[in-house]
Amino acid sequence: MSTITLHISLFLYLLFSTTTTTANAIGDTANSPPYIPSNYFLLNCGSSSTSEQNPSANQVPYMAARIFHSQFTYTFPVSAGPKFIGLYFYPVNYSDLDIANSFFSVTSGGYTLFSNFSAFLNVSAMKPAVASLRKEFIVNVRNNQRLNITFLPSPKSHAFVNGIEVVLMPENLYIRGSDYQIPLVSQKQQFFIENSSALEILYQLNVGGNEVSITDDTGMFRLWLSDDDYTYTAHGFPPHREVPIRYTQETLPYTAPKIVYTTTRTMGNDSQKYKLTWRFPVDFGFYYLLRL
Ligand SMILES: *[C@@H]1O[C@H](CO)[C@@H](O)[C@H](O)[C@H]1NC(C)=O
Ligand SMILES: *[C@@H]1O[C@H](CO)[C@@H](O)[C@H](O)[C@H]1NC(C)=O
Ligand SMILES: *[C@@H]1O[C@H](CO)[C@@H](O)[C@H](O)[C@H]1NC(C)=O
Ligand SMILES: *[C@@H]1O[C@H](CO)[C@@H](O)[C@H](O)[C@H]1NC(C)=O
Ligand SMILES: *[C@@H]1O[C@H](CO)[C@@H](O)[C@H](O)[C@H]1NC(C)=O
Ligand SMILES: *[C@@H]1O[C@H](CO)[C@@H](O)[C@H](O)[C@H]1NC(C)=O
Repeated sequence: MSTITLHISLFLYLLFSTTTTTANAIGDTANSPPYIPSNYFLLNCGSSSTSEQNPSANQVPYMAARIFHSQFTYTFPVSAGPKFIGLYFYPVNYSDLDIANSFFSVTSGGYTLFSNFSAFLNVSAMKPAVASLRKEFIVNVRNNQRLNITFLPSPKSHAFVNGIEVVLMPENLYIRGSDYQIPLVSQKQQFFIENSSALEILYQLNVGGNEVSITDDTGMFRLWLSDDDYTYTAHGFPPHREVPIRYTQETLPYTAPKIVYTTTRTMGNDSQKYKLTWRFPVDFGFYYLLRL
């Protein structure tokens, strides 16, 4: 029991990104990202696991976790607008607690991000197998609010988290309001994403290219994976074109890093013979926004 108390009272590391603002202040526009968030928090949470660390999981933030036996709320002082929330989970036994018994809910800004979620079952179900998870959400915060992220263990269960990121996002990137109609596939109904919606970023791929790390994103710390694991047909080849990318008012420089636009997958003139298909497992009961 004493060890558990110790783990709960351990200090949280609050890291502020100072490098990007420094680069900007000295006018180094070549190296500063297109987008510099005015709010950015990265928490590396809690205490060490009792299991051997999987080498594929990074030391920070996966080396340590914060364990919850009852409801716990993180509160972030943030300005109004859309917030990117990144949650990191490395599901192993912590403090001799069986990870197979960890089921919990996470809520934020009035939205349920997960309900009775098992990070252990979630990584076990993934193909190819992974050791750790990073979940990404976008939640809008109204004026004069704080952003709360609440962890609630299911009965006879514990919750945990290894790392939390909260980043202010630009307006109108994903949540574009009533001015921007989105076609609803095979239906006539009009569809808009209002700022009362919350989103989970499920798949974000750099097609025909390599993974783009969160620090190589445009400043929002989104992770762009290679599309190799999601192509259904093995066809299509990825030419790399070093063409200048000209951003527009409709597609501003922070939308996606240049490398995302320069790598491609094409069927060439083989399109008569096969289709190029990506396959994404998704859950029933949600609308899915597809951005190309
Ligand atoms: C986690 O703990 C449970 C119960 O003590 C045990 O059965 C299981 O093997 C442990 N898992 C790992 C990966 O150590
Ligand atoms: C959570 O999920 C587990 C495994 O599916 C299930 O046994 C349990 O009853 C669920 N708990 C709640 C509160 O829904
Ligand atoms: C894992 O999480 C993803 C996204 O949150 C969800 O679509 C999927 O159903 C989950 N899988 C399991 C086995 O819980
Ligand atoms: C959300 O949208 C409403 C209606 O379009 C607008 O009045 C309000 O300012 C928006 N709030 C935020 C925080 O963006
Ligand atoms: C956030 O949590 C604090 C403490 O639990 C609570 O007082 C506050 O009302 C919450 N704020 C929002 C916006 O939910
Ligand atoms: C595409 O068509 C050209 C001209 O018809 C041909 O020379 C080339 O081999 C074809 N490429 C592929 C990949 O089929």
